[in-house]
Amino acid sequence: MSKLWGGRFEGKTDNLVEILGESVSYDSRLAPWDIRASIAHATMLGDCDIIAKAEVKKIIQGLKAIDKTIAAGEMTWDTAMEDVHTNIEAALVARIGDAGKRLHTGRSRNDQIATDMRLWMRDQIDAIIALLNELQGALITLAESHIDVILPGFTHLQNAQPVLFAHHLLAYVEMLARDTERFTQLRKRVNILPLGSAAMAGTPYPIDRKQVADLLEFDGISKNSMDAVSDRDHMIEFSAGASLIMMHLSRFSEELILWSSPAFGFVEIGDAFTTGSSIMPQKKNPDVAELVRGKTGRVYGDLTALLTLMKGLPMTYNRDLQEDKEALFDASDTVQLCLAVFTRMIPSIAIQRDAMAQATAEGFMEATDLADYLVMKGVPFREAHGIIGKIVLHCTQENTTLPALALPIYQRYSACFEQDVYQVLTPEAIVKRRDNPGGTAPRRVRAALKQARRRCGMK
Ligand code: ARG
Repeated sequence: MSKLWGGRFEGKTDNLVEILGESVSYDSRLAPWDIRASIAHATMLGDCDIIAKAEVKKIIQGLKAIDKTIAAGEMTWDTAMEDVHTNIEAALVARIGDAGKRLHTGRSRNDQIATDMRLWMRDQIDAIIALLNELQGALITLAESHIDVILPGFTHLQNAQPVLFAHHLLAYVEMLARDTERFTQLRKRVNILPLGSAAMAGTPYPIDRKQVADLLEFDGISKNSMDAVSDRDHMIEFSAGASLIMMHLSRFSEELILWSSPAFGFVEIGDAFTTGSSIMPQKKNPDVAELVRGKTGRVYGDLTALLTLMKGLPMTYNRDLQEDKEALFDASDTVQLCLAVFTRMIPSIAIQRDAMAQATAEGFMEATDLADYLVMKGVPFREAHGIIGKIVLHCTQENTTLPALALPIYQRYSACFEQDVYQVLTPEAIVKRRDNPGGTAPRRVRAALKQARRRCGMK
């Protein structure tokens, strides 16, 4: 098969160059979007009287038939023909003859690939937003069914203050909501048509770019042909957004790994999402969480690859740009798989409320509230902080806890302590007092859950 661009060449391409240059082994997945864009382009060429309507009809029928062949897995992709575009064009000419040779009028593979990628990305963004929504739904459902469960909140991974388990889960819902917002905003920037920019300077044919944009449901057309064929900002934004999603999943993974360790024992992840050990019969390992945490690094790598790819490129299209695809596909596939697996894993998690309660009794998490208690009795906060610090020290030396300490001992440290001090010392009371917007009081958490439900479009 002679090359699409073979006219001015006399010698043959080196076979290693064919291996180096081919992209069809990974860009053939763009075929459905490539064909959709070609149908819109051909329709416009016909309507603008650039090619005959009878030929347009043949082209569209041919492209639709090729689409079916590809969907059925019956297309033979030829790496000697470089990429998805050339393979499809060659298949079209083979099928319908000379009319097929007119399809590429007024366009270049440069604006063609830019268009395909935006069409493809738009669909991936929609899929990711749907997956983010489902995961938020799973977290909300888990939170709602454990609304009264309390666990230790940490700073520095040291017991800090008790919080509602639902409040903890809602922290992840917030992260995922920001991810959704990010991809929603990105979609607007992606949804601009580059086709019509041709190689880089535009085309002399009287094309109607607006018509193509409408046919392909783009919101508008690109404003500068040189930028349009070389811009890959949206791919970097996409992989940055994917990296943030992965980072959020990775942090959650880390917590699930800690929580499911017998040292914590806060949760037990379901059998379908854990694995055993080939040597230690007792093991139930949180591999899903570990793999998601591991795959986060790989998506960061994709982002780094794209940023590095772009940094030295002069205007306009450079063949380097072909290297954008594998990184982007990988970021997209990885984030979608991880979101889907996570959404399924969440309902499998059994919450061990007793272990959480036991851990909540440790680490003197009542200390802040004891200081606040003294403040209410008129002691300046800094002074109160010092007094409670001494009481905590006393407890560690006597191997006892704050709720177990007798009133006379409290009074040894401050005359302001009275019998009502014990009322502030239960985890329920501590949680209930954090009753301001964004706080962990049950009333606030219930309201936040309701709001999150609404935001996700749940009933
Ligand atoms: N396969 C190419 C890519 O992905 C399509 C554009 C080719 N353009 C060119 N001037 N060789 O970048």
